[in-house]
Amino acid sequence: MTENRGASQAAIQYHYDVGNAFYAPWLGPTMIYSAALWPDDAGTPSNLADAQYAKLDWHIASAGLGRGDRMLDIGCGWGGTMRRAIDGTGIGEAVGLTLSEAQANWIEEHHSGQPIRTEIRPWQAYRDNQPFDGIISIGAFEHFAKPEMDRAAKIAHYAEFFRFCADSLKPGGRLSLQTIVWMNVAPEAEAGNLPLHIFPESNLPHVSEVFEAAAPCFHPMDFHNRPRDYSRTLREWIRGLGSKRAELSAMTDGETVKRYRDGFAGFVLGFEKGVIGLTRYSFLKR
Ligand SMILES: C[S@@+](CC[C@H](N)C(=O)[O-])C[C@H]1O[C@@H](n2cnc3c(N)ncnc32)[C@H](O)[C@@H]1O
Repeated sequence: MTENRGASQAAIQYHYDVGNAFYAPWLGPTMIYSAALWPDDAGTPSNLADAQYAKLDWHIASAGLGRGDRMLDIGCGWGGTMRRAIDGTGIGEAVGLTLSEAQANWIEEHHSGQPIRTEIRPWQAYRDNQPFDGIISIGAFEHFAKPEMDRAAKIAHYAEFFRFCADSLKPGGRLSLQTIVWMNVAPEAEAGNLPLHIFPESNLPHVSEVFEAAAPCFHPMDFHNRPRDYSRTLREWIRGLGSKRAELSAMTDGETVKRYRDGFAGFVLGFEKGVIGLTRYSFLKR
């Protein structure tokens, strides 16, 4: 079994097991915790839920998923991606991997009766003897390397992820990936720019590391970098945290709400100054 050299289960639970009730008021009905896909024209009206669905539909198409297909969602959060693929595309079965018990409980409660199976298990410890038609992984890659890893160590570990995905796909299968990436930052300044108080034990890839690690197993078919997709999403979350502050503080403490708001505000600056980017990839199995 491949060792989990990214963020540990304890680190992930520290973040996500703050409680489902804490996330629900500001993530909104989709319960999607990653950058949405906003229209390019800033004047085009759109709301967070519509922009999240647009993002999910991009990934479902990018993973080549169709009616009756079987999908794997690596880092499935609260299950919104799998549910969209079932409701919108009519896929036949979804398996979701998460490290968070609270998320798995939410899925059981809110998506019961759906062809969804959730495993509280890192991809490093997951094997299925039936290959998947498509794989989606949104906002989990950021947890796959630790801050102290150098470029070579990160690429070696990311390559294990791509090998796992290729081995889990049917011939001609696709992987759709979304991750935050480093852009304009000096290597020695990277660690200081990570909000480790929100996301402990995590690190970001550079775009070149993603492509280099994927190359032995996948052909890149599509790619974009849209930092504004994340800054706009973060502004929506900050607005939600602000308007629900009393409710959220009552269920945790004022300090937690402030930690999230300040952390998100730091991320907004990072995206707007070009320190970090938001990338999406469609990969075809070699
Ligand atoms: C930011 S959330 C994104 C959730 C969801 N994809 C979305 O867009 O709403 C990151 C997810 O990755 C999961 N995760 C992190 N490291 C993982 C690993 N090694 N294996 C499986 N899941 C992992 C977490 O448990 C969490 O569900």
